[in-house]
Amino acid sequence: MSNIHQSLDVKVIQKSFPEARELYLLPLGDLHWDSRYSNHSLIERKVAEIKENNYLTLLIGDTFDKLFFSWLLKDQQGDDLNVALTTVANLFKPIRDNILLIMDGNHERGMEKKVGFNMGEALANVLEIPFIRGIGVLHLRVGKYRKNQTSKSFSRMNSYVGLVAHGYGGGRTKGAKANKAAALGDVMENCDFSIMGHVHDPNLIPNSRLVYDPQRKTVYAREIRNVILSSFQNYSNYAQESFMRPSPKLEYLIRFDGMYKNIEILERRM
Ligand SMILES: [Fe+2]
Repeated sequence: MSNIHQSLDVKVIQKSFPEARELYLLPLGDLHWDSRYSNHSLIERKVAEIKENNYLTLLIGDTFDKLFFSWLLKDQQGDDLNVALTTVANLFKPIRDNILLIMDGNHERGMEKKVGFNMGEALANVLEIPFIRGIGVLHLRVGKYRKNQTSKSFSRMNSYVGLVAHGYGGGRTKGAKANKAAALGDVMENCDFSIMGHVHDPNLIPNSRLVYDPQRKTVYAREIRNVILSSFQNYSNYAQESFMRPSPKLEYLIRFDGMYKNIEILERRM
């Protein structure tokens, strides 16, 4: 191992789908389930849809809401925590094989700092799904690849490499949020896509970067598709008091092609 290449403690989730011609990923985030503003019926509809269409999914964090100490007191706000954990676990159990990972969110982390218990991690443990703090690498390999036109052997799959993170901070403007998404996609060199949540303001921020190929002595462009997810929160008093807008109820269905490397993203109504 050289000085300039050192392996880091970053979790990698790699999944291969050699039989698939295409993969669909419908990422979900910011459920804030135990908040009284959480849109439970919409979340239940999404789970049913993922099951019906066999979409892949992931939870980008803030699955649970309780953040401040006073919110932990019983009867203060929304669901009791035991009820919340059991309800969410039962809700997601039928699609547990479709969930690639569960991210930590600042709400789960905030509570963990106070009481030493992380609701997101507990959910991930119950469902036996990888739990990721910080940044996660999502590596999807899809389809078979024919070596050449005469060869009958299929050898290589299309690799799609993404970065997933919950998101951070309180930037209010569209531009500040978009910059965060672009920054995430830029953190790792060979990134094809990134997914974040947290800001409750869906958006697509495509980007590109120059890549030098030393063998061919040419420069080419690598495109990066950065996705910001919406939330499942209704328009809360807090949001109104803080002059925030309601979240546009839009989601992104991401299609990974198994034949030719290509990502298509469909923006649609939740
Ligand atoms: Fe958040």
